[in-house]
Amino acid sequence: MSTTSVKVFVPSDTTARSLGADQVAAAVAAEANKRGVSIEIVRNGSRGLYWLEPLLEVEVDGVRHAYGPVTPADVPDLFAATFLEAAPHRLALGPTEKIEYLAKQTRLTFARVGLIDPVSLDDYRAHGGYRGLANALKMSGEQIVQAVLDSGLRGRGGAAFPTGIKWKTVLGAPADQKYVVCNADEGDSGTFADRMVMESDPYVLIEGMTIAGLAVGATRGYVYIRCEYPQAIRTMREAIERAKAAGFLGDGIQGGKGSFHLEVREAAGAYICGEETSLLESLEGKRGMVRYRPPLPAIKGLFGKPSIINNVISLASVPIILDKGAEFYKNYGLGRSRGTLTIQLAGNIKRGGLIEIPFGIPLRDILYAYGGGSATGRPIAAVQAGGPLGAYVHPTQFDTPFDYEQFAAVGAMVGHGGLVVFDDTVDMGEMARFAMEFCAIESCGKCTPCRIGAVRGVEVIDRIRSGVNESSNLALLKELCETMVSGSLCALGGMAPFPVLSVLKHFPEGLKSQAPSAGKATDRRATEQAL
Ligand SMILES: Cc1cc2nc3c(=O)[nH]c(=O)nc-3n(C[C@H](O)[C@H](O)[C@H](O)COP(=O)(O)O)c2cc1C
Ligand code: SF4
Repeated sequence: MSTTSVKVFVPSDTTARSLGADQVAAAVAAEANKRGVSIEIVRNGSRGLYWLEPLLEVEVDGVRHAYGPVTPADVPDLFAATFLEAAPHRLALGPTEKIEYLAKQTRLTFARVGLIDPVSLDDYRAHGGYRGLANALKMSGEQIVQAVLDSGLRGRGGAAFPTGIKWKTVLGAPADQKYVVCNADEGDSGTFADRMVMESDPYVLIEGMTIAGLAVGATRGYVYIRCEYPQAIRTMREAIERAKAAGFLGDGIQGGKGSFHLEVREAAGAYICGEETSLLESLEGKRGMVRYRPPLPAIKGLFGKPSIINNVISLASVPIILDKGAEFYKNYGLGRSRGTLTIQLAGNIKRGGLIEIPFGIPLRDILYAYGGGSATGRPIAAVQAGGPLGAYVHPTQFDTPFDYEQFAAVGAMVGHGGLVVFDDTVDMGEMARFAMEFCAIESCGKCTPCRIGAVRGVEVIDRIRSGVNESSNLALLKELCETMVSGSLCALGGMAPFPVLSVLKHFPEGLKSQAPSAGKATDRRATEQAL
């Protein structure tokens, strides 16, 4: 067999690299060199099968075969076993597309993620990229907005607001300048879908934002990227430069009249800067503090101008809608939750990673059929869905279909699709305390129920767990939660009580006194007073 055309794919995604992908790529290059074998190493994005990273793939007769997880020490052995011919090996996983975890998914937004060289425009276009924009360039702004409305797409950042309605408001707001802002702050616990898109298929986000700009008449856009994502920032910047050079960004897009200028901004490193009005303040160079609403950002947003603010996944889902049509997208899903959802499996789970599936699949299937149960092999006792402000879901609720309305009906939240899994060794009282502590640390400080309430919440939980006046402090905790829910200006203070209330409802034993005796409580109080 000639090895001249053999392509070996080694992911360049942050997770794969943190697990040693760079060292594996170097070992593959060195071993090929030593053996005089000519290969082409492609640094693709990750397929999202994180428990198998670094996942090495070799392309034979147009089919990609996977091996993983690979360490540099495995590389000489892989060459000896002729893995370049897709030969069997103890790390062989067969054709990548047939790995069950991947084969069972419906990848629409993530169609190219892990397949292509992230910054290669040729690769992007060869895999269906920029077809949505080509259609959008032939449509009026109203027609583009109507397509997004008809698709049923709802915001994937957390609030699930219909994307088309937001765009329609911006389209209808007269102004000399409008903006498209992409929220890539991705602060929720256990989430990484936005990062994966930006690191593995940046042009899909650029294309989605360009279509958004054409739809509403916005000629400038910003991607506000979490500062802890240096690789996503680098990849996005490089892709923007390349898209500009190829006439996909700037003035006169693809020889037409449309203009769209795009820039990356590094985020400030605060959870609250993911809240859209805080994000706008931060983008304007100010401290990230929540704004009063109205006016809505769609009317008076960035620099006081009408602005679209959407999450990465919302915007990255637009190209396929414009390419294949609103009906195609809408045909996936359930009820008012249309299309696909990117779910991120994290925490104590055997097969952590990203899955893209239509709405409506029960949580239990996601945890067991995809996730394979807990990593420790112990029973899964709780799942926090939708980030740090999401309720803890109890095993009796695991048959709930993944759908905005059905999750809300059981007091849970889909949010950005992050799932953090816990086994039965978890201390649920500590989890409740953490929700309040997180809110106290991350509060922007603008309103009293959140700024003061979260601090008091930690103290009350500590008293309950120390056995100090348990029943009256439990009543106080419930009252405090109600005050925060109804009196906070934004969802940080307004939702931080939800995980606490879910612990009170489903895991009440977690908030029982941890003190073996009254003496311990007295000791702790004495210590607190001394401090
Ligand atoms: C405290 C807080 C943090 C948030 N963090 C994020 C975030 O990191 N990324 C995001 O897309 N949305 C975040 N949101 C939601 C945004 O305010 C907003 O709803 C979203 O960017 C709108 O985009 P979408 O309609 O496409 O979801 C956050 C909201 C709150 C209250
Ligand atoms: S709820 Fe908290 S984060 Fe939100 S505006 Fe009030 S103080 Fe700021």
